[in-house]
Amino acid sequence: MLNNYHTPVLLNEIISNLHIVANGTYIDCTAGFGGHSQAIVDKLKNGNLICFEQDYDAYNFLLKKFKKNKNVKIFNENFTYIDYEIKEKVNGIIFDLGVSNYQLINQNRGFSYKIDGPLDMRMSQKNKLTAKTIINTYTKQQLVDIFKKYGEIKKPQKIVDEIIKIRKQKAITTTLQLQKIICDKTKGSIHRKHPAKTYFQALRIVVNDELNALKQGLEKAVNLLQKYGILAVITFHSLEDRIVKHFFKNITIAHDFYGHDVPLYQKIKPSYCLITKKPITPTQAEIERNHKSHSAKLRVLQKIC
Ligand SMILES: C[S@@+](CC[C@H](N)C(=O)[O-])C[C@H]1O[C@@H](n2cnc3c(N)ncnc32)[C@H](O)[C@@H]1O
Repeated sequence: MLNNYHTPVLLNEIISNLHIVANGTYIDCTAGFGGHSQAIVDKLKNGNLICFEQDYDAYNFLLKKFKKNKNVKIFNENFTYIDYEIKEKVNGIIFDLGVSNYQLINQNRGFSYKIDGPLDMRMSQKNKLTAKTIINTYTKQQLVDIFKKYGEIKKPQKIVDEIIKIRKQKAITTTLQLQKIICDKTKGSIHRKHPAKTYFQALRIVVNDELNALKQGLEKAVNLLQKYGILAVITFHSLEDRIVKHFFKNITIAHDFYGHDVPLYQKIKPSYCLITKKPITPTQAEIERNHKSHSAKLRVLQKIC
């Protein structure tokens, strides 16, 4: 289903890889505006869907959207609580990482370098840390580290120096203020993408502790899969994808009890197998329909014993 708030990415691909059984139990860890969830529900008869969504606005939207579906349970929680809320083994779990279009275009949420708004970037309204706090209170070294590590920016020093200089005079409180600082300082250099994009990405990752949540979520999700259960994950940038790729690789290769590589006859067979040797990416037609899908990568694994 398409709606104004978000267009689900790789919808057919994720659904066909889930091999949904009508009486199965499925978890959507990042339910957003319910595009993927709806496609799962449409294939269920006596089965159940459990949704996690940390954004309160999206959670309320989901409550209304699925109010007639007694087989859909929705938690306004971080997916790192998945093992706390769910004790049964399930047939399939999906993650569709990152932000929804609603979050991106909503002025009040402060995710976009193109739209003016408060420097916020919190996906969960329960979260205390905002981008404004980071930009105005973190030390020079902390800011440099954040932009290097999470924005993969080689030399952020010039921009961090400017942030420090400006914030001494007046707090930096809006997205366009920060965008302007970045653009002014990178004027004249050639960029493949908007110069503010990776700075904003880095801040968003830290505000929402996205990479730690992903690592925890994956660990917990595979433990909830029943035999032949499927885990499918869509990522949107290389830092996320690297985590998923390595995690999938590590749990699908034979190893000894301690995880070491040993001679073949001593190896313990893995409990999971890779379904996608290479990630599934959107077709040209999908990218033309929905440009935001262009960087999406879908990786899938299955529990085999
Ligand atoms: C790309 S959108 C998902 C869109 C959804 N698949 C759909 O079709 O509408 C990602 C959503 O995941 C939520 N999210 C991201 N990280 C989360 C986490 N750790 N726990 C719970 N929700 C999370 C975001 O708030 C956002 O609404």
